[in-house]
Amino acid sequence: MRPEPQVLAPEPSAAGSATAVAHPNIALIKYWGKRDEHLVLPRVDSLSMTLNVFPTTTSVRLDPDAARDVVTLNGKPAEGEALRRVVHFLDVVRERAGQAHRAVVDSENTVPTGAGLASSASGFAALAVAAAAAYGLPLDATALSRLARRGSGSASRSVFGGFAVWHAGPASGTAQEADLRSYAEPLRVGDLDPALVIAVVDAGPKPVSSRAAMRRTVDTSPLYEPWAVSSKADLDEMRAALLAGDIETVGEIAERNALGMHATMLAARPAVRYLAPATLTALDRVLRLRQDGIPAYATMDAGPNVKVLCRRADADRVAEAVRDAVPDGSVHIAEPGPGARLLPGDGR
Ligand code: DP6
Repeated sequence: MRPEPQVLAPEPSAAGSATAVAHPNIALIKYWGKRDEHLVLPRVDSLSMTLNVFPTTTSVRLDPDAARDVVTLNGKPAEGEALRRVVHFLDVVRERAGQAHRAVVDSENTVPTGAGLASSASGFAALAVAAAAAYGLPLDATALSRLARRGSGSASRSVFGGFAVWHAGPASGTAQEADLRSYAEPLRVGDLDPALVIAVVDAGPKPVSSRAAMRRTVDTSPLYEPWAVSSKADLDEMRAALLAGDIETVGEIAERNALGMHATMLAARPAVRYLAPATLTALDRVLRLRQDGIPAYATMDAGPNVKVLCRRADADRVAEAVRDAVPDGSVHIAEPGPGARLLPGDGR
């Protein structure tokens, strides 16, 4: 599998209004913990697969007469924290573009929002690409990844299709250097033919945002530093396994990295627990699949949902096995998907 070509750079003619689409990604080596909240600089490198399901489509139109940004998410006016994050992100774009115009943002998200399925990744990747184009910022893919990072860390990886690594950047030096060197890039992998089977345990919003949860983990969990150290080794091993097309090793590393991340949260004070009873039932099913000789490995994010990495050829069987673990939920099969891109014209 070859890395994707660079995402479309915004065309100058598109300035003023633009529409972009981006897909969520699931980390196989997790981003958990920031060293700079303002610049969204992570403590660890992370590695992910962008999916071909649940895209977000976002349009941005500048409105020279408006006094404030108007943001619509899934047909409803955004408010509270969601609105604040989008406006803050647009402020970053405006500062870079040297423009003051407010914008009308309309975003349609097909992923269950807030369910630990990385809706902020596809959301801010699509917003970064559309806003850069609308404000006339001529950014290449690396710069778009850096920009998307300012909205939500994991969005830096959704700028790219397939597999991507997000570099944490240097721990010392100036903030400007760190900002410049923290971006994602596509990763070359061997012959894998992977799928991710997604078991949605609960599509409701999460009890604690990932932003707050990672802050509490870094500040209070005695297990955080050891996990961050082991995560570096996990990433090196995972790169080699991906290149070799060795899905068993990729899966083993992904599962231990995710369980380790959840262990850091469980040891935080007070504990952050996203895992639900149905999550553990799904994990039992995954273990049983392995005992039956099917390479299947689980990963979980800031929510109870379980994503199972397996071979595409085994995905239907894996989906069948996890389905009865989530009687009230749903099961989806995803494959590697495309990077963020502008849609032609201004249409959807
Ligand atoms: C558990 O990217 O949502 O999904 O940067 O604060 O917006 P912010 O956090 P976010 O965190 C994602 C955390 C994770 C792991 C991952 O995707 O790497």
